[in-house]
Amino acid sequence: MEMKEIQKTQGVYISTYGCQMNVNDSERMYSLLEMLNYQPVSSPDQASLIIINSCSVREKPVHKVHSEVGRYRELKKANPELRIGVGGCVAQQEKDRLLKDVPLLDFVFGTDSIDKLPEIVAKVKSEGQPVVSARFEHQQPYHIETLIKNPGVSTFVNITKGCDNFCTFCVVPFTRGRERSRPLKHLLEDVRRLVDRGVKEVTLLGQNVNSYTSDCGTNFAGLLKALAEQTPIQRIRYTTSHPKDFNQELVEVMQACRDKLCEYIHLPVQSGNTQVLERMNRGYSREEYIEKAQMIFNTIPGVVLSTDIIVGFPGETDEQFAETLSLLDEVPYESLFAFKYSPRPFTKAARFEGQLPEEVKSERLNRLFERHRELAFPMAKKYEGQNLAVLVEEYDSETGRVSGRSTQNKLVHFTGSQELIGQTVWVKIKEAFPQTLRGVLVQ
Ligand code: 5AD
Ligand code: SF4
Repeated sequence: MEMKEIQKTQGVYISTYGCQMNVNDSERMYSLLEMLNYQPVSSPDQASLIIINSCSVREKPVHKVHSEVGRYRELKKANPELRIGVGGCVAQQEKDRLLKDVPLLDFVFGTDSIDKLPEIVAKVKSEGQPVVSARFEHQQPYHIETLIKNPGVSTFVNITKGCDNFCTFCVVPFTRGRERSRPLKHLLEDVRRLVDRGVKEVTLLGQNVNSYTSDCGTNFAGLLKALAEQTPIQRIRYTTSHPKDFNQELVEVMQACRDKLCEYIHLPVQSGNTQVLERMNRGYSREEYIEKAQMIFNTIPGVVLSTDIIVGFPGETDEQFAETLSLLDEVPYESLFAFKYSPRPFTKAARFEGQLPEEVKSERLNRLFERHRELAFPMAKKYEGQNLAVLVEEYDSETGRVSGRSTQNKLVHFTGSQELIGQTVWVKIKEAFPQTLRGVLVQ
């Protein structure tokens, strides 16, 4: 009888907020829960286990958890066996407070407790008591294997976790803990295994990938070189890098291994004004950033840059914001991710004077996006007539179109067939749109 209970397959639904790191963590949760015979389901009403993988980087997080759990009240009434848990940054931040605030919850687990999920769920079910597991495992080495059920053509591989930079606006050092790197040896093995499963492209993930340091002393440039030379992976991307740790050695390795390392760098600047950057604790000035960008363009001709910008940081004046706008003229960013400053718990900037009204932030955000649109469209137009190497990821049988990314991280659509999935092909670009490119297969 008991065995039957254990073997019965059940449904798990994970609702994921926030960054790629969280998306990757959710994949890991699904794989771990398979050990308890849980299968992913596509809607909460089919699930006997619901997990909210929360984010607190820019949102009003506890509020969001509240309203989502509220939507499951009826489901829980109909099925008293349903268990609901919260993981991710909000869980790490709020810990047992979350159980008090949201009584419908059965468990809360922090960012360092993901690998304990099977244990936690088993405990919740057997004891019928709420469980909280949200301690940082600072002393533990960072040893995980990429767990992903259907890795597909392109997948993500965590290389570091946590962050020690303490930018004054950012909650990540508090929700993800101190920085840890996975050993080089493990990463090489991990990537080789993924290649064996059909993966053609990996994106190395970390809050600040270029401060990666293996236990054997290898730095990020060394990791890229080793992955390019010692594994059969076809393409390597990474995100996110910090300008202060971006150096000549790294750029030279990218150029030398260009056949595998994609020609795309996400290099968050956050502001174009040196005083604001100082108050953000970013560790570089406007001029130093521009110099680094130039070094990148000079060493890797044709490389594409994108960035993150925060507008309305406490005390940001109109003149200081104007310097962020004018940075767009100095550094050609093909994509821009911009956000209104949002005060986050525990962070220094939340207590700074000069917090700006919402209207000022919104107005600056609109102006920034507008300026970027004016500049970015001509940048996209330059691809018309060019041949780009595209790794095909998807086929849509209804339209007969396939899509994939160029090494510059451009989304390209063209007419093709299912068999092209996983292949890198040359595509001649016929028309550029603001976000995507349309082309034809070069035979
Ligand atoms: N407010 C607004 N944007 C933020 N980001 C991080 N913290 C905040 C905040 N408190 C943005 C930064 C970072 C991106 C992931 O999110 O631009 O690079
Ligand atoms: Fe946050 Fe700064 Fe660390 Fe990025 S580098 S995660 S913005 S503290």
